[in-house]
Amino acid sequence: MSDKPGSRILLGISGGIAAYKAVELVRRLRADGAEVQVVMTRAAAAFVAPLTLQAVSGRPVRQALLDPQAEAGMDHIELARWADLLLVAPATAHLMARLALGLADDLLTTLALATEAPLVLAPAMNHRMWTNPATQEHLARLVARGVRVLGPASGAQACGEEGPGRMLEPAEIVAALAPEAWPGRAGHRTGPLAGRCVLITAGPTREPLDPVRFIGNRSSGRMGYALAAALAARGAAVTLISGPSALAPPPVADFVRVETALEMAAAVMERVAGCDLFVATAAVADYRPAAPAAGKIKKAAAALTIELVRNPDILAEVAALPGGPFTVGFAAETERLEEHATAKLRAKGLDMIAANRVGTGAGGFDTDDNALVVLWPGGRRAFPLMPKTLLADQLADLIVERYLASLAG
Ligand code: CTP
Repeated sequence: MSDKPGSRILLGISGGIAAYKAVELVRRLRADGAEVQVVMTRAAAAFVAPLTLQAVSGRPVRQALLDPQAEAGMDHIELARWADLLLVAPATAHLMARLALGLADDLLTTLALATEAPLVLAPAMNHRMWTNPATQEHLARLVARGVRVLGPASGAQACGEEGPGRMLEPAEIVAALAPEAWPGRAGHRTGPLAGRCVLITAGPTREPLDPVRFIGNRSSGRMGYALAAALAARGAAVTLISGPSALAPPPVADFVRVETALEMAAAVMERVAGCDLFVATAAVADYRPAAPAAGKIKKAAAALTIELVRNPDILAEVAALPGGPFTVGFAAETERLEEHATAKLRAKGLDMIAANRVGTGAGGFDTDDNALVVLWPGGRRAFPLMPKTLLADQLADLIVERYLASLAG
């Protein structure tokens, strides 16, 4: 048995003509190193022979829920636990309706309810069935629950008509499951963010004046590190991009250390494609010395003027990306907290902003406790002063809630 993450795939096949492509799909998934357990609906077996799928998968195909012999081996709950991923290809309109309703009237739909592994669907159906409001409503519900939907493609259909509803080709489905196309797959198998990728910045930046001095700030990275850990605990594959901090890296999928705002911006932009959420907790220097001195600046003159130039606004750039991630910003304010935070939410085009008061002595930079007011278009929640680890946990829950609501449109 392989230990590679995402290597145990339950492949559900429902009853549409595209079911014949599942044979090639199994072959490609196995060539990619996955173990594949096929589960077919009763209708699927009318389109493709279970024996064919047994031969290509190297495992007996599971078909019935109430099958005493199969259940005596690996029962459906064990099977649901075994899987790193439940992929349904093809997913018919009827299957999507059953999944949307949470029915458990056969083995495949029961597994979909019982598993905590991410669910991926490759729909295939007549284009009128696909565009029917009933199917679109089911699709919206499934997406809102975090189900990943691949395709369908548009083109000539088996029924002789043209339109959206063709299942993606097996090679396209396998490519969409690859870590490059789906960075979130590196996370945990379970939790509300399983299969999702989170990019988070934390800590201060240092902007060099000369080889020994820099412009910095008091950010400790504590809030960002705690939030990175809380989001990872909810299943996400978290990449933490951190400025200089004395803290030990939290348990995340990837930890990247940077120093300057420009390095942080480059590290973010290199990794943001395919990411689902971007959380900017870093206290990024808004300005950097225009021309850092090559050697140590000597105290020769009575006064020293240093020219500063603007750094890129990483958060605003990510928020402006077409098809970019759900963005969460932070705002540290000394006065008129909500007014300034609301203005930033709008100006940067964010999905959420967490605002805290700084410079008052209670909470904020370089302290253990913090209080936040979180704002989003049309909503607000206040969190009282509490330890940052506790706050990070509660904030992570709110981020999950708002993120899933955004998927529902
Ligand atoms: N941010 C960023 N890149 C920058 C500056 C800020 O990604 N160059 C992010 C921070 O991580 C934080 C939010 O933007 O999530 C803070 O917004 P910003 O407008 O920079 O806040 P302040 O620095 O507090 O702004 P101002 O000084 O104008 O009040």
